[in-house]
Amino acid sequence: MHALKEKNVLICVGGGIAAYKAPELVRRLLDVGALVQVAMTKAAQAFITPLTLQAVSRRPVASDLLDPGEDATIGHIDLADRADVIIVAPATADLIARMAQGRADDIVTAALLASRAPVVVSPAMNSNMWAHPAVTANVDTLRSYGHRIVAPDRGELACGHEGEGRMPDADVLIAELTAALTPQDLTGTTVLVSAGPTREPVDPVRVLTNRSSGRMGYAVAECAARRGANVILVSGPTNLASPRHCRTIPVETAAEMQTAIRDHVIASDVVVMVAAVADYRPVSPKNSKIKKNDDEFVLRLEKTEDILAGLRAARGERILVGFAAETDNVVANAKSKLQRKQLDLIVANDVSADGAGFDVATNSATLIDREGGETETGLVSKHDLADKILDRVVALRSDRRGAIREAK
Ligand code: CTP
Repeated sequence: MHALKEKNVLICVGGGIAAYKAPELVRRLLDVGALVQVAMTKAAQAFITPLTLQAVSRRPVASDLLDPGEDATIGHIDLADRADVIIVAPATADLIARMAQGRADDIVTAALLASRAPVVVSPAMNSNMWAHPAVTANVDTLRSYGHRIVAPDRGELACGHEGEGRMPDADVLIAELTAALTPQDLTGTTVLVSAGPTREPVDPVRVLTNRSSGRMGYAVAECAARRGANVILVSGPTNLASPRHCRTIPVETAAEMQTAIRDHVIASDVVVMVAAVADYRPVSPKNSKIKKNDDEFVLRLEKTEDILAGLRAARGERILVGFAAETDNVVANAKSKLQRKQLDLIVANDVSADGAGFDVATNSATLIDREGGETETGLVSKHDLADKILDRVVALRSDRRGAIREAK
């Protein structure tokens, strides 16, 4: 179930060209089951009519501070009280300034002032305006109020300039709204995640790789970031966009992945190794293309380092999570990996099961911890599985800290 299902989302539309993207945001929010109410500034109405937004949201749009509102309640207070979460999109320089000052001179600013709901702000403007110190100071003020600021995208702007200032697409804004409603139980925690396959060169044109798409690892990175973690994602080659709010380090080979993990493990509190790391690599990759001269061809392989097992010495208070991609004796094999690699948690994954494993959006797994606790997840989305893994991580971290406190 989507986190925004049946949540009251108040969309406050400011008067900028990006207001034309508001109907798409409304539509996408309705698609995930949110209950959408739109409010507009006067300037926004010069770009898009309340009638359009009323038609897509299927509700009257709040556009006037002095409108008596539904059910004879006070319009802006009613909007403020009803909202579970608010998004200001687009937030123009002027609207940001008025919000920073705590003004209440229109329906949007008055509702924002009267609400206790979390607020997401999506600034969109000319790139020079966005870079102006006055705007930076006002945005910092909004941050100090606890508002979530969505960094504008870079690209061609309506004014003809090229630069930062574009309002991101609806999926990005929906992810920010979801994050605004998510308990921030990983704030102050650095989570190091590996994802995707590795690629071992055979010659300049050929590689040894595997079928990992990277989706499971990216889901763990995204969910950890949404829960407030500082995320470092070490990624093998995938077709996925680098997740927002994560620092992505691209790598190719198992050796490169090991170096990246080793460089960042000390700064991390949690390591989740989702990557399908190659177990073997060619002993001597060729510098020029291998020609098909012979009927048979033997490729000599050597073992790669086991990255996760190599982290044992660095474990300390750190929580180490591994994945076990298996096709047979799934739980038994996973348990022996948990012991051998001295992990806190292992995600046992039957990659041959329907809807699980590579290149699908779903997965099913058994979570096994070092105390012997076992939980079957059933078939869930990769993001839901990521959240279940992170729930266990949060619990294991608090148990571990408790045990360390007692031992002192
Ligand atoms: N792993 C690792 N380095 C490797 C191989 C695996 O860090 N060279 C990690 C994976 O990221 C995963 C866990 O170890 O978190 C288990 O990986 P898996 O491929 O299931 O097991 P292996 O240890 O490689 O054992 P086998 O292939 O024999 O099942």
